[in-house]
Amino acid sequence: MEALKGFRILDMTHVQAGPTASQLLAWMGADVIKFEPPQGDATRGQLRDVPNADSLYFTMLNCNKRSITVNMKTPEGKQVFTDLLQICDVIMENFGPGVLDRFGFTWERIHEINPRIVMASIKGFGSTGPYADFKAYENVAQAMGGAMSTTGVPDGPPFVTGAQIGDSGTGLHLSIGILAALHQRNNTGKGQYVEVAMMDGVMNLCRVKWRDHQRLTHGPLSEYSVPTEGLTETPRAGNDSGGGQLGNAIRCKPGGPNDYVYIVVQEAVWEALARRVGGDALVADPRFARIADRRRNQNEIWRMITEFASAYTKREFMAILSELDVPCGPIMSTGDLATDEHVKLRQMYVELDHPQRGKWWNVGMPIKLSDSPARIERSPTLGEHTDEVLKEVLGYDDTRIAGFRKAGAFSLPPKKTA
Ligand SMILES: CC(C)(COP(=O)(O)OP(=O)(O)OC[C@H]1O[C@@H](n2cnc3c(N)ncnc32)[C@H](O)[C@@H]1OP(=O)(O)O)[C@@H](O)C(=O)NCCC(=O)NCCS
Repeated sequence: MEALKGFRILDMTHVQAGPTASQLLAWMGADVIKFEPPQGDATRGQLRDVPNADSLYFTMLNCNKRSITVNMKTPEGKQVFTDLLQICDVIMENFGPGVLDRFGFTWERIHEINPRIVMASIKGFGSTGPYADFKAYENVAQAMGGAMSTTGVPDGPPFVTGAQIGDSGTGLHLSIGILAALHQRNNTGKGQYVEVAMMDGVMNLCRVKWRDHQRLTHGPLSEYSVPTEGLTETPRAGNDSGGGQLGNAIRCKPGGPNDYVYIVVQEAVWEALARRVGGDALVADPRFARIADRRRNQNEIWRMITEFASAYTKREFMAILSELDVPCGPIMSTGDLATDEHVKLRQMYVELDHPQRGKWWNVGMPIKLSDSPARIERSPTLGEHTDEVLKEVLGYDDTRIAGFRKAGAFSLPPKKTA
């Protein structure tokens, strides 16, 4: 049995941040009804690779959901929404500030309609505070949550990270909030409002940078490879490990863009690593005798290891390091990952079929539940389940559906002619 079987979610989320969360919940067994405007989630048509087919941007974030199109700007559309609210456990949304309020559905009103429902929202900056009125996208959140100012090298520009910590990271936070609120609802009978601001989520994921921000008040950060003397805020530090052990990305043969291995020079392995790289002379070298010495002279360590690694490919270098029990990993490109045996075995890149686009691949479910493994199914086409949901979930009969359809509840209003 699926872990969340029996929970029904009214999913008004769009783009990436919200759909990440609802897809995870769907993979855990919730019945997720994607409630879309008649023209659909904008990502269906964004970054298209196959003409007239839902884009990968959409298909990769909306698996295992049912799609219903409803025009919330008609009274009948609002009626469908209200009826769904009454029988759902969760309503999720990540609209810009005030969109649902403008439809007449504040949290207070939603709670009145169904006191048991949990409402979950993602906002760029939350519903309170001076930034509350602003919209946000991934990189805006990375910029404002402290990720960009701490990513890159000190004398270069700030960089965004490839991992979508502003969108998908916030989606993860929201899922946790939803599950907690459902647990509480099951004990108390009362739903509550769950809100995650993207900026807050990014700050949470940058927690160790806040550790360092405060440590700076007591002096320089000895483990950083860049100068930190006199700084009052956490700097960008290239590929430093960010933890208690020294680490860096080491370039290998033949020197292509991803020919690197990330290595962590754990204290326990230093001697063995030093012997392999520089023989007994390096083990005895006073510049690297104690941890404090190694921290201070770490750029020399990286230089020597890079020189050693230049004779090996990343796989060969990794094999050498693994024999020495050095924690390390080759920098994997998307091409490496797509064909990796480990990835395949863990079902982290799975092949699916789609009526509009044929075969395609999705990243799999990273949360593995032993009793309810995820079964990944393709994303729905626009409005694929409108009638099914109206009939089976809401119990509407054909006459009612036809009346609502005629009134424009499921379509865009006709274009005005001059
Ligand atoms: C992502 C974002 C910037 C997109 O902005 P946007 O394209 O202008 O969309 P908004 O969410 O502000 O508005 C959605 C519009 O669709 C309309 N709409 C949504 N569902 C509808 C429905 N079922 N029927 C009719 N209209 C609908 C809304 O009424 C609104 O139009 P309005 O501005 O005329 O009221 C914005 O949604 C946002 O800031 N979201 C919160 C942060 C977030 O999640 N960002 C990350 C996205 S990956």
